Parts: sequence; structure tokens; C-alpha cells
Amino acid sequence: MKPRHIQCACDKSECPVYSKCCFLPTEYYESPGGTVELLVVGQGGGKDERKKGRPFIGPAGHRLRNQLRYIRRQTRHFGVAFSNTIRDNPKNNRVPTDEEVELCLPYLLKDIAWLKKKGLKAIVPLGRAAKSALVQSKGTMANDRGRVFYLFDDLFGSVPVIPTYHPSYFLFKHITFTPKNFHDMELLAIGDIMRALDM
Ligand code: URA
Repeated sequence: MKPRHIQCACDKSECPVYSKCCFLPTEYYESPGGTVELLVVGQGGGKDERKKGRPFIGPAGHRLRNQLRYIRRQTRHFGVAFSNTIRDNPKNNRVPTDEEVELCLPYLLKDIAWLKKKGLKAIVPLGRAAKSALVQSKGTMANDRGRVFYLFDDLFGSVPVIPTYHPSYFLFKHITFTPKNFHDMELLAIGDIMRALDM
């Protein structure tokens, strides 16, 4: 299936934070009926994303796309969109600052409003940075994953938000110990995404 893009509407050629922002677009794939039911939101692009100008195309993106393929096989065809809290690749993949998130968020909200018209059912923020950009909770990811929050905005009313683990978490080959329940955790993440699709 061919990806389509909602070009980032930001027109700041001289962003106060990123002078050379690559304005990563939101990428989406429609269901056969033309709907997009799910939006997954990451922290920000990595070097692969910056190079190709598309979100979630590096190793974490592959892991996520495999999870989604698995869900499709278990359930049904659905449309999905990929976006990020910020539209560039922060140096060394560091967590974006509040200022950066605040600058980029209006463009994500615009995309959410557009996707709502295409049948968006729920948003899944992946990892802590995306979760804190979209929901008001100081809970840990272990506490908040799988919970249903709501995002309100004048542009689109409300939309359910179900946070879960970032796919990069399941790629950490360099961590010195693998949690015993590593595979169970990925199954939890997959279950959270399935729950979002049932909203
Ligand atoms: N690629 C993205 O686009 N976002 C992430 O959060 C990680 C990888």
C-alpha cells in the first residue's frame, strides 16, 4: 500500500529551536474504505527519518509496523497514521524540551482534526514524551499504558488517547539485562493498540 502524507503546515523557516527543521510530515495509509482509524505518535524522528523525510522508517518504525501487521492479520484491515510530537530529529535522539513540544503541537492538532474527518477512532502515544504531550498525567508508563484518556481541542472536539510503550523499548539490544517479561510487555503494547482500534 502506498503511503500518503499530510505535509506539516508549519511555515517557520527559521524556527527558534531548529534552524534546519525537516518538518517530518504525518504519514498515513487508508483502509480499503478510505478511513484512517488509528494515529500513533512518537517522540521525534531519528536519523533515518530525517534522511528520508518520513516518520517511523528506522528500526523502531520497523518494529512498530510489524506489530501493526500482526494486528491486521489477527483482526481486520484498518487505516493508520504515523506522526511525532516534534517534526525533527533532536540531537542524539534526546527527549524534546517542553518548548519544542509546545511549538510543534498545534500542527499535530491540525492533523488530528483532519484525521478525525477520516474516521480516526483513537490516538496511541508511544513512550513517555508523546504521552506527556497529549495527556495530563504524571503517572509512569507502567501505570498509564492501556488507560483511556481524552484529548480535547476546539478543532476536533475530543478523541480517546491510549498510551503504550515505545517500540524502541523492544529493540534495546544494548541493555545489560532483559526484563523477564519482555515479550509479555510487547504483547501488552499490541493489546493497547488493539484496544484503541476498538474505541
Ligand atoms: N521514528 C519516529 O518517527 N518517531 C519515533 O519516536 C521513533 C522513531
